[in-house]
Amino acid sequence: MIGVFDSGIGGLTVVRALRRHLPDYDIIYFGDTARTPYGTKSPETVVRYAVEDAETLLQKGARMLVVACNTASSTATGALRERFDVPIFDVISPAVTMAVSDPKRTRVGVIGTRATVNSRIYEDKIKAIRPDMKVYGQPCPLLVPLVEEGWLKKGETRKIVKKYLHPLKLKQIEILILGCTHYPLLKDIIQVKIGKRVKIIDSSETMADSVKDFLHHNPNVDGRLNKNGACRFCVSDVTEQFQKIAETILKTAVTLEHIKL
Ligand code: DGL
Repeated sequence: MIGVFDSGIGGLTVVRALRRHLPDYDIIYFGDTARTPYGTKSPETVVRYAVEDAETLLQKGARMLVVACNTASSTATGALRERFDVPIFDVISPAVTMAVSDPKRTRVGVIGTRATVNSRIYEDKIKAIRPDMKVYGQPCPLLVPLVEEGWLKKGETRKIVKKYLHPLKLKQIEILILGCTHYPLLKDIIQVKIGKRVKIIDSSETMADSVKDFLHHNPNVDGRLNKNGACRFCVSDVTEQFQKIAETILKTAVTLEHIKL
């Protein structure tokens, strides 16, 4: 199984993309809904939670891990790779690879939680490859609760998105990285507010692409993964709201399994 985890529901956008790119592969998802959000927590706490999330998935039979949370990816990937001897994908590297691949664009905006933007991980990784690029981070802390409330098309959400993107518009960015797993659900509004000439990088799509590519080139790992198209959804707290949003994201009925951490 491919194990995928997130602080809560946002990582389901990565599951959705994985199912599009790799429909036969069995997936087990863990959403830490009892302890979400991670984006407001200290790095030490996020690392501790991420290690527990990974252990949970490995105990249930995951053979590789996808960290479908920008906050956990930016803070805990190193600690996870030190502890666990399975392939581990962070959601940041594929988005960086895509951002640096366009030689004509040099001005990049990154939106995410405070923890992700404060970590400066996108900036560090981009500049290590393309020192000519300018990277501007913008935390958007209100967007996660708005998505979790299902306010995907409300006027209030549009106004808040516009306000958050204003400083990036002034910087005349040419690329915008959606550095939070919830934001692909607001992609249309974000594209309208930032302008259609700005190229948006959706980390859920780039992540799925890079997992597919990895499996293609690593048949030894690929051979260990079951391919029955099955998907299990585990959470640390079962709520009606999670159920509702999960079904909106995946466009199918979802059965939640409760896991006590
Ligand atoms: N999943 C988190 C991320 O991608 C957003 C929600 C949270 O703060 O936990 O950064």
